[in-house]
Amino acid sequence: MNLSRFGVSIEENLLADFDRLIRRKGYANRSEAIRALIRNLLLDTRVEEDAEAEVIGTLTLVYDHHAGELSSRLTELEHRFHHAVVSTLHVHFDERNCLEVLGVRGRSAEVRQISDSLIGTRGVHHGRLIIGSGVGASRRAGGAAHSSGHT
Ligand code: NI
Repeated sequence: MNLSRFGVSIEENLLADFDRLIRRKGYANRSEAIRALIRNLLLDTRVEEDAEAEVIGTLTLVYDHHAGELSSRLTELEHRFHHAVVSTLHVHFDERNCLEVLGVRGRSAEVRQISDSLIGTRGVHHGRLIIGSGVGASRRAGGAAHSSGHT
């Protein structure tokens, strides 16, 4: 792999904050942290811009299961999108509240639609979609990013 070096101008305060963050997160050095940031940004952007990209990720929801018809509404949505919701983990973490983590896989646009529907459901306190990886390049663009490994 060819490495390029480049200089970055940055305010001292911002750099000091960044260095503290790097230590806390356990990055070996600034280069490693910056590479990770760039990779994440590129992945997020690619997935956002390419509706056809095949993606895999997790959707985390925190909700109050007493809130209206929320539990059955969420289950209904999960069934409607059963081809894309590949796994669910449910934790009853106190008297009222539930944590649900869904493994999702499919076209970027659809995964986002599912995520928006679930997060937007009334009674959901908190929701976040994390796209773990693009599992393949867009069908439109052709090619396969994950060419080796599993059968
Ligand atoms: Ni629960």
